[in-house]
Amino acid sequence: MTDTVDDADLPYSEEGASMQEKIQALRERLEVLEAQNEEMRDKLLDANAENNKYQQKLERLTHENKKLKQSPLFVATVQEMTDEGVIIKQHGNNQEAVTEVTEETHTDLEPDSRVAVNNSLSIVKRLDDETDVRARVMQVEENPGVSYGDIGGLEDQIREVRETVEMPLKKPGMFEDVGIDPPSGVLLYGPPGTGKTMLAKAVANHTDATFIKMAGSELVHKFIGEGAKLVRDLFQVARDHEPAVIFIDEIDAIASKRTESKTSGDAEVQRTMMQLLSEMDGFEDRGEIRIIAATNRFDMLDRAILRPGRFDRLIEVPKPDEEGRELIFQIHTREMNVADDVDFAALASETGEASGADIKAVCTEAGMFAIRDDRTEINMEDFRNAWEKVTAEDDEDESVSKTFA
Ligand SMILES: Nc1ncnc2c1ncn2[C@@H]1O[C@H](COP(=O)(O)OP(=O)(O)O)[C@@H](O)[C@H]1O
Ligand SMILES: [Mg+2]
Repeated sequence: MTDTVDDADLPYSEEGASMQEKIQALRERLEVLEAQNEEMRDKLLDANAENNKYQQKLERLTHENKKLKQSPLFVATVQEMTDEGVIIKQHGNNQEAVTEVTEETHTDLEPDSRVAVNNSLSIVKRLDDETDVRARVMQVEENPGVSYGDIGGLEDQIREVRETVEMPLKKPGMFEDVGIDPPSGVLLYGPPGTGKTMLAKAVANHTDATFIKMAGSELVHKFIGEGAKLVRDLFQVARDHEPAVIFIDEIDAIASKRTESKTSGDAEVQRTMMQLLSEMDGFEDRGEIRIIAATNRFDMLDRAILRPGRFDRLIEVPKPDEEGRELIFQIHTREMNVADDVDFAALASETGEASGADIKAVCTEAGMFAIRDDRTEINMEDFRNAWEKVTAEDDEDESVSKTFA
């Protein structure tokens, strides 16, 4: 017999009874299924909760991992690969230690590999060859494109730098004839954005010297145990590229006063500075290599760096005076389409406290105001609005002028 619509009207019969049973059975089945469904839903909820928990754990671990990678790293060399782990020797203190590594890292390492390790001597990563490290930290520029004419309001400073850096490179004989040692190095100091980096680059541009630039901060933050070596490398690179100008920007990062704390980071900074001092002192015949350093934090410098024979010319690079500001406005608007009503003397008198970098920012902003207004000519109002905007930004970012205490 078949379940067709015709059967529905059949009077109560045996067939009807069996149908009832069938329905009952189906109902029961449905209930079972519903219960199962409920159970599954509970399980799903549980699984979701579990998943959430793991997700959070993952986030926590990722965060921790990141933190570990950010904490100061030390450089070590792999001595031996053993079954218990990798034997490494830390640079600087020459301590040996055994450290466990993942299988992946294990295959990547061999004796003599240089690795970065964290505080607990876990290997964080394998380091590239030394030459790459050198290249990353030092920028060798054959000819940076800045000339003295691009610098406004620093005539005295330019003259002094030329005398001390350029002259000995160009006419080493003159110092011999006169019978004096050329000054060893010059230190440019002053508030940020006043043209110290520009000045150093201009020197390199006006001699045939190779310009080797190194940021002090980069030395210290990344490669603990490597600072001193990099300083040695720096002077070696200079010797290889004579005549050369070594420019150490942000020298305060490696030559600041000894602090109270005795963290390994401080010891590292000290070692790096000692190496710098000894390279400078050992510079007997320094006719072909000049050193320029710059800092925004003269107050922070360790006085040892200022002893005679080291940086014996200290050149202050202050914020520009009114005349200087006018010049800097003219320099940075050379290529700009400036309206006749623009009065640089007036702008210079209205922009007291502006650094060279501030003035450059004002010029760029003034151009933006004109563009927003769909004009190709920049007028006086654009410059005034730009100055307002730049000073407002400076107030937000207090570090701009106040780091120079
Ligand atoms: N005296 C200046 N004359 C012209 N432009 C300047 C002057 N000082 C700063 N600037 C502008 O500000 C930018 C940053 O200057 P920079 O030399 O890096 O400052 P510092 O090294 O003193 O912090 C320069 O690239 C330049 O555009
Ligand atoms: Mg600078």
